Order: sequence, then C-alpha cells, then structure tokens
Amino acid sequence: MIKVGILTSGGDCQGLNGAMYGLVKGLTETNKDKVEIYGILDGYTGLINGDYKKMKPEEFENILNLGGSILGNSRQPFKKINEPDENGKDKVEAMKHTYKELGLDCLVILGGNGTHKTANLLYKEGLNVVTLPKTIDNDLVGTDVSFGFQSAVDIATNTIDCIHTTAASHSRVFIVELMGHKTGWLTLHAGIAGGSDVILIPEIPYDLDKVVEAINKRINDKKHFTILAVAEGIISKEEMLYSKKELKEVRKKEHYPSAAYRIGAGIMDRTGQEVRVTVPGHVQRGGSPCAYDRVLASRLGAKAAELIMNKEYGYMVCVRNNQIDKIELNKVAGRLKTVDPQAGIITEAKAMGICFGD
Ligand code: F6P
Repeated sequence: MIKVGILTSGGDCQGLNGAMYGLVKGLTETNKDKVEIYGILDGYTGLINGDYKKMKPEEFENILNLGGSILGNSRQPFKKINEPDENGKDKVEAMKHTYKELGLDCLVILGGNGTHKTANLLYKEGLNVVTLPKTIDNDLVGTDVSFGFQSAVDIATNTIDCIHTTAASHSRVFIVELMGHKTGWLTLHAGIAGGSDVILIPEIPYDLDKVVEAINKRINDKKHFTILAVAEGIISKEEMLYSKKELKEVRKKEHYPSAAYRIGAGIMDRTGQEVRVTVPGHVQRGGSPCAYDRVLASRLGAKAAELIMNKEYGYMVCVRNNQIDKIELNKVAGRLKTVDPQAGIITEAKAMGICFGD
C-alpha cells in the first residue's frame, strides 16, 4: 500500500483542484487498490494540528474545472515556522508527527514561494516530499510558468478591457492595480494584453516625471485617456533610496491604501487630470481555471504521481522549455523569479510605445 498525503498551502489560485485531479488520476488509474489518499485540511495548519481525512479517488473527480481548493488553504509564514504556535506547540515537530502518525510514503505539497521554503525544510527533516508550483505571481524559480498565472492574467486583462471602453468615453487617467507581490509578471502580461499605455512593475523603479511625460504626450496627441497597469509592489526611484524600515515609515505616514492610490495622487497633482483607480484584488485568484491552466496543472499532477511511483522525492515538478520536468527542491526554495528589465518582452513593449516609467 502507498500512502500519500496532499495539502494546498499559501494563497489559493486557479488550478489547485486540477493539479490534484491529475495527481490522483495518475496515482490510481492503474493502482486503485494499492494507494491510500489523505487530504490534509487548510495547508500546513492541518498538518500541524493533525487535521486530515482519508479520501476516495472519486472525491477528486469532476474538480478539474473548479477554482479554489477542495482541501482549503492557509498561510503559515516560513519566518515563524520555528516559533511555537499559540498553544506552545513546536510546529515542525507537529508536522513530522502527523506525517508519521499517518504512515505516509509521501507528502504532496502544492504551493508558491513561502510554501517551498517549508517544503524544503520538511524534506531536510527526513519527510518524503514532492511539490507542485502554484501561484498567480509566477515568481517561482525553476519553472517557466506556474499554474494559476494564466487564469489571473486573463482576469486582469479582462479588467483592463472593461476599463478601456469606459475610458474611451471620458478624458481621464485610469489606473488598474494588479497583484503579483514583489514581482511584475502578472502586470506585465495583462498590461500588454490589455493594451495599457503605461506599465509599472517592481523590477523597474519608476520616475513620476516620466509617467507624467507619457500622459501629457497622449493629451498633446489628442488621445483622451491614459490607462496605467501598475503592480501592487511598485517602487519609485526616490523610494529606492530608503532602507526597508524607512520606506515602511514613510508609507505609513502617507496613508494611501495601496500603490495605485499613491501614484494616482502624484499624477493628479502634476497633470490636473481626473484619476480613477480600479483594484480587482482577489478577483484575480477567483473563478474557474482557464483551459491553459487546466492542462498545465493536471499534467504537473500526473508527473508528480510518476515521481511518487518511482520513489523520487525532494523535487518540484516544473515546466522547462514546454516539457514537464522536475527540479530539486533546494534549487527552488527561498529564491524569487523576477522580471528581467532587459528581457525581450520589455524591449518589444517599449517598441510599441508602452512607458515603463524609466
Ligand atoms: O501570492 C499570491 C497573492 O495573491 C499575491 O499576489 C498577493 O500579494 C497576496 O497573495 C495576497 O495575499 P492574501 O490573500 O493573503 O491577502
């Protein structure tokens, strides 16, 4: 009998259920009576608290097109993983205990950046671990793309498309703030797909003068509106001079709810234009996975099943040059995949006249 535990950790995204569908199909299609599946509830929190349930393979059927996770998600920040929980429980020991109590042969962990740090720690502690790359941020090193990303790009693009029609009727500046945490993948792709005039991402600190210049140029060219796609993590050139602590203080004093409002105030001040802000927020992580993510997630799940059957542990399944592959966890954990400001996609976007504020 092969016993496999599954957990979905961190923020959810589209494709989590699709990945579990592929995984369980891959594990059970030919070995149905030789595999036992345990669903760990609410990510690492369930593993810490021994919150799990034995599940039938049939419970993973008809979920390929479902958003969210049938197991639930939670955040257990890695920086606090070695601190005792509110009941004084040692979290790492508790997770190892649950794994042993269940007699698992492998724990499959679906997650993003923070999740992979803990997954790598558990692997180093002796647990058999296989992981899958999920995140709308697309910031996981070792995979060309993570599932959830394309669905979020589609939603964000649709948001910008909707703004376009209202923008065409008004002479205003529209700012759409998109997720992505510390990286600009989502904003870059949705920004281009949505035909934005200005795209601001954390990897290219912006100069407000350049943004204002781009808006004024459009006004002079008799273009009535300007659409900016800005990432939630943007930083200006001046802000780059602050230490992390100083920046936190400065922003606290400014009282802007988020990046779009901060730059929006600067633009209104400098151009006199009416500014409107749209923050789609968690809508970007919601709804059904797009077809691309269903294919990607289920293929990654099937690959993870293959690794388990071969007793190959300590890997994240990944995409490399359009092929499903695997990469050692220690090459992924704790590293961030950022947009290269010199990348072809930026050069081509600039050639189309998109301003990056640099
Ligand atoms: O990592 C995915 C993500 O959606 C980021 O883009 C965003 O910064 C963050 O999670 C939001 O986290 P939460 O759902 O905990 O508010």
